[in-house]
Amino acid sequence: MKYRKRSANDFVFKEELGHGSYSTVYKAIDRHDPNKIYAIKVCSKDHIIREAKVKYVTIEKNTLNSLARGNHPGIVKLYYTFHDKDNLYFVLDFAAGGELLSLLHKYGTFNDRLSRHFTIQLIDTIEYIHSKGVIHRDLKPENVLLDKEGKLMITDFGAAATTTLESKNGMESNMCPTSSFVGTAEYVSPELLLYNKCTASSDIWALGCMIFQFTEGCPPFRGSNELKTFEKIVELDYLWNPQKCDNNSIKNINPMVVDIVRSILVINDNDRVTISNLKQKMWFSGIDWSNKASIWQGIFT
Ligand code: ADE
Repeated sequence: MKYRKRSANDFVFKEELGHGSYSTVYKAIDRHDPNKIYAIKVCSKDHIIREAKVKYVTIEKNTLNSLARGNHPGIVKLYYTFHDKDNLYFVLDFAAGGELLSLLHKYGTFNDRLSRHFTIQLIDTIEYIHSKGVIHRDLKPENVLLDKEGKLMITDFGAAATTTLESKNGMESNMCPTSSFVGTAEYVSPELLLYNKCTASSDIWALGCMIFQFTEGCPPFRGSNELKTFEKIVELDYLWNPQKCDNNSIKNINPMVVDIVRSILVINDNDRVTISNLKQKMWFSGIDWSNKASIWQGIFT
């Protein structure tokens, strides 16, 4: 078929799915094939220029395009981009299961099986992103979407950075040139707050915050304002709160989860656990990380 540039007229726009700082996402159906459902992110040109967001939109498009080549199941796919007089459009995978944050709000906390399922898929996806020289820099449950089977997809690469391999003491590490605070207060790493430094390990820090949140229902560092949250992060001031079950008994926290979170939430990013060491942790015993089909199963069955 001859390639034809798509336009907004090729889609029937349905309900709003969500909105970010410079965009609104709508459910949309392909006019030529009603079985094809997409999520279309619409960014107002006026707004992007007024709020100086051109850089973020460009980063998002370039990053999604370059990651798409690997066809990884954990990354939301970008099918088409186009623009008209008023807007830019990103045609993305429709995630029928919505945001991971909404699922967490619905359940309060995740049980061990659900937490492990999402953590495994997050690790596999973060490893893939980093292998392509990309740091997401805004990982949080709102930026993790679910398909109808409960397989996850990471979205919102507007804050992403590409890395250069730097050699430090004979060790190569993924660094991005300069950083400033771009993420979300609760998930931001201490190296960014203390040294304006961002490495691939900053995404692992955010993963640790999410694993804690799966078990506890809220992220480990949360102050009454952003500044207090930042103070808690740099002081590593977090506590496990044993959760009450429906029958008022106390739910024991899995020591394997506590061990993983402890190995991630380390102030010095050089001492923080790496993805490859994380995969060896007890909680994942029995997982064959090379067997992608076993990692990429659904959970809503
Ligand atoms: N909300 C934001 N992006 C979405 C997507 N791709 N699918 C479903 N809901 C969304």
